[in-house]
Amino acid sequence: MNKVKLHDRTFRVMIPAAEIDMAIDRVAARINEDYAGRETPLFLGVLNGAFMFMAELMKKMECNCELSFVKLSSYCGTGSTGKVSELIGLKNNIEGRHVIIVEDIVDTGESMEHLLRSLAGHRPASVEIATLFFKPDSFRKDFEVKYKALDIGNEFIVGFGLDYDELGRNLKDIYVIDEE
Ligand code: IMP
Ligand code: MG
Repeated sequence: MNKVKLHDRTFRVMIPAAEIDMAIDRVAARINEDYAGRETPLFLGVLNGAFMFMAELMKKMECNCELSFVKLSSYCGTGSTGKVSELIGLKNNIEGRHVIIVEDIVDTGESMEHLLRSLAGHRPASVEIATLFFKPDSFRKDFEVKYKALDIGNEFIVGFGLDYDELGRNLKDIYVIDEE
């Protein structure tokens, strides 16, 4: 499938599945090295987008690990902060735990900043971020994103968990809007 139609737009393949797999391999190797011999880390996936990256990453982990998922609800606040995200579903006690947040994409970093702030209140031993995609030209925060599988420009992408208005999450390749 070279092109797909989602709602009103046509998308074409930008990053084939094999390339995504190799990028996840590289991230997994770094995490395996960094967490070898440490206490069992907790991988915390951010729904819905991170489900596929989480599955692929987990299959490549060599240490004992636990996983869980949270969701961020975004809505427009009435105050000056604008977008506010609320953390839903953190059932695990993360106090003293090594947490690795698993995200599909870090764009401006706004949602991740909210998540980091909420998690800090639960006093984890450490928190790192593993994201499948990172948009360096769009990112405007100062926290570190330690594990980035692939850097991309400011284009809007779908597939591998990422959606265009809820469609496209099932696609195994990454697609971008087809201008023609
Ligand atoms: P941020 O708060 O600006 O970093 O935005 C992060 C969220 O925006 C992600 O978790 C995605 O849900 C969504 N997002 C950002 N860029 C894209 C994209 O290219 N495709 C699909 N969703 C995106
Ligand atoms: Mg997301």
